[in-house]
Formats: sequence, C-alpha cells, structure tokens
Amino acid sequence: MKIGVIGATGPAGKGLAARLASVGHEVVAGSRDPARGEATVAELRERWGSRVDGLKGGSNADAAAAGELVVLAVPWDGAVDTARAHAEALAGKVVIAMANGLIKEGREFHPVIPDEGSVSVTVQVAVPDARVVAAFQHVPASAFGDLDHPMESDVIACGDDDDARRAVLELIAAIPNLRAFDGGSLVNALGIEAFAAVLLSINLRHRGKGTLRLLGVEGHTPGKEPA
Ligand SMILES: NC(=O)c1ccc[n+]([C@@H]2O[C@H](COP(=O)([O-])OP(=O)(O)OC[C@H]3O[C@@H](n4cnc5c(N)ncnc54)[C@H](OP(=O)(O)O)[C@@H]3O)[C@@H](O)[C@H]2O)c1
Repeated sequence: MKIGVIGATGPAGKGLAARLASVGHEVVAGSRDPARGEATVAELRERWGSRVDGLKGGSNADAAAAGELVVLAVPWDGAVDTARAHAEALAGKVVIAMANGLIKEGREFHPVIPDEGSVSVTVQVAVPDARVVAAFQHVPASAFGDLDHPMESDVIACGDDDDARRAVLELIAAIPNLRAFDGGSLVNALGIEAFAAVLLSINLRHRGKGTLRLLGVEGHTPGKEPA
C-alpha cells in the first residue's frame, strides 16, 4: 500500500513509517519542512538499510497526497489545524488519527477532552470528506521504531466508515505480532484516547513500558470481514 505519514519526524511517526516500510509498504515521511522529512528518511536508511527501502522523505503535503491511507502523527494540539490544511488532499482517503490529548500533572497524565468528545472526532469534523479512523494510541513509539524486535501489542481501531475501519484493521494485522480489534464507531475514540492517560500514568508510576493486551478475544483475521 502507498501510505503518507504527516509529522514523521517525531518518535511516533518516524517509528511507524519505518515499521510500515519494513513490512513492504511505500511510505512518504512528511514534515512541515521537507528537508526534515528527507533527513528523517536518511537517518532511518542509515540505521535499517534495505529494510526501509520503501521510504521517501518530503513535505506534509507530499505525505497527504502520497497514498490511499494517511497517518496523522502530529501532537494533539496541532492535529486539527494540520488536517484542515491538507483537507483537499485527504478527501476520500483513510486518515489514521493517533493523537492522544494529554497533559502531564505531576506524576500522572490527564486526558484533554475537546468539545467534540475526542481529538479524532474533532479531526473528522475538520475534514468531513476524509474517512478518519482512530488507532495506535496505546503503542509506544519505541516499539514501532525498533525493527529488530517484533511488536507486542493490541491495537483498537474506531471509525465511522466500515471500509476505512476494515482497511486499518488489515494494516495493523499485517504487522507481525500486532493484533487488531474493531472498536466500533469514531465516537468510541474518546475511550481509547482517554485511556492513554491512564496507561501513561501507570507506566510512569510503575516505571514500565506497558501497552494494551486484551484477554479472552481473538483479533482481526486478515482477509476476514469483521462481525
Ligand atoms: N510518542 C508515542 O509513544 C506515541 C504513542 C502513540 C500515539 N502517539 C501520538 O502520536 C502523535 C505524535 O507523537 P510524537 O511523540 O511523535 O509527537 P512529536 O514528536 O511532539 O511531534 C511529531 C511531529 O509533529 C510535528 N509538529 C509538532 N508540533 C506541531 C504542530 N503544532 N502542528 C503541526 N505539526 C507539528 C513536528 O514535525 P515537523 O516539525 O518536522 O513538521 C514533530 O516532529 C501524537 O499525537 C501522540 O499523542 C504518540
């Protein structure tokens, strides 16, 4: 698949871009400054060689235009304006919103809940012609970026467009060891975004790198329709 990553110079976008390229996707790593996008790709090539052959650097506009699926990997307080700035290019595409609205208060994180209920819904309102799916909120950037180690996590995808949600479930399930779960409509992104504050507080207080693992349920099987 051709995939664009907007904000691929940060740890989350960079790690995800590398991981997606490593499983065979063509990925454009974008930045507000195309030179930074290219430098990020040069750094990843230096580290991972031919494992990230499918990577290309560029601007966020290049990333938004690149593929049928675009990941919005910028901080929550820039996500809505960034999506709006690329609304035309994103129209009709699957847009993965991975932002968590969070603030740190002492030794814990608290969720920031926008009027619309979640950052993901706010992005969808800003780009009504895109098909926004919330996903990857609980996966640490370090796990994406370490290609020598398989990822160990469950990822919940929430979105209103059935085909878009299914495309994201397929994308997740094709990454070795990641399990993909259909979390229903985009309104439920509130739950996954807010839970990230709890998860990060746990990691801070217990000095760990915990991620999400669901028991008693199997993840999405590639090629199979979600129930
Ligand atoms: N870090 C994690 O472990 C993790 C895990 C799951 C989800 N997430 C989510 O993934 C997103 C990215 O996380 P991150 O830690 O990689 O973030 P980050 O490093 O703070 O930002 C990523 C990139 O976004 C661009 N950016 C920064 N501020 C911006 C703004 N106001 N408007 C537009 N672009 C801006 C910058 O790229 P340029 O300056 O090059 O444009 C930056 O390198 C966040 O929404 C976060 O909640 C993170």
